[in-house]
Amino acid sequence: MQTLKFFPDTPEFDAVLAQSVEQLGVGGLVAVPTETVYGLAADASNGLAVASVFEMKGRPQFNPLIVHVSNLEMAEAIGIFDDKFRMLAERFWPGPLTLIVEKKPSAKIHDLVSANLPTIALRCPRGGAQKLIAAFGRPLAAPSANRSGKVSPTSAAHVATEFSGEDIVLLDGGECEVGIESTIVGMLDGKIRILRPGLISAEELSNCTGLEVSKAGEKTGIIAPGMMQSHYAPRSKLILDCLQPENNAAMLALGAAEGHLNLSRTGDLREAASNLYRHIRELDQMGKDSICVSPIPHEGLGIAINDRLARAAAPRERVKGE
Ligand code: TXA
Ligand code: MG
Repeated sequence: MQTLKFFPDTPEFDAVLAQSVEQLGVGGLVAVPTETVYGLAADASNGLAVASVFEMKGRPQFNPLIVHVSNLEMAEAIGIFDDKFRMLAERFWPGPLTLIVEKKPSAKIHDLVSANLPTIALRCPRGGAQKLIAAFGRPLAAPSANRSGKVSPTSAAHVATEFSGEDIVLLDGGECEVGIESTIVGMLDGKIRILRPGLISAEELSNCTGLEVSKAGEKTGIIAPGMMQSHYAPRSKLILDCLQPENNAAMLALGAAEGHLNLSRTGDLREAASNLYRHIRELDQMGKDSICVSPIPHEGLGIAINDRLARAAAPRERVKGE
């Protein structure tokens, strides 16, 4: 693994971009920071490269990957956008929103990426990742850069612990700003369906399009192979909605509650989301039996945080990958 600093305004940035483009061009993998979490990226048109992403993550091949684009034009060469989805892309891209659209037969995306589904997940990330895709000139397939079923990485150090010794280029762009994965939406019967909650809320989606938006957790009617219950799982058992830590437990607090770590002392849910995975990783390393988590208000970003916590706390027997 080779780690390179990746900050767009530094003198070495162009050289790092060029090296990353070369790595992707020969079918290699690049771990790249996005505004949400780090992704493990490969040329989406190269079947061997995409296969190595699945292999390195230990991800089952029935679970499709998100294709990352540098702009709407690149996205429209891959998927079919109606007016409403075009409005969403124009409003929220680059940013933490993934759109599930019908895949065009002419799309130069390997079938492995979408696990043979007729649909494809598209997202245009912000910052260095967007610049990398633009420099490469082709879309990148990228899941979160963690072993399948484990906690998503929000810093280069997290990626390094997951994949040390592997043949990848790791771009270190510091901490991810949002800290949890993008909101994923699809459309069914003229209604927007949230498949995975994230920073972009149901209200924002509805305000932008004027359409009704199904709430996270409702049945979407859309096939979403990756939405397994158990996911984002630490080693220690996770216990939710705790006011007091149990014996031999690590405590993850919010607001005024006391704990080993605090997601946000002021109860700010944005700050809490950006700390969530890092804190869970740190508490996991304490080697306690369990991690107790304070109640998180079920509003705004709290919906996405509770979604990830519920998956992390789900029984492990049901883990089938990510
Ligand atoms: O913020 C993010 O979205 C991050 C960064 C790296 O972009 N990526 C990410 O990828 O979270 P991943 O692979 O960890 O999660 C992608 C989710 C999976 O649950 C997968 O099943 C779902 O997207 N997905 C991909 N294609 C789909 C499709 N055609 N239909 C329904 N769900 C799909
Ligand atoms: Mg993931």
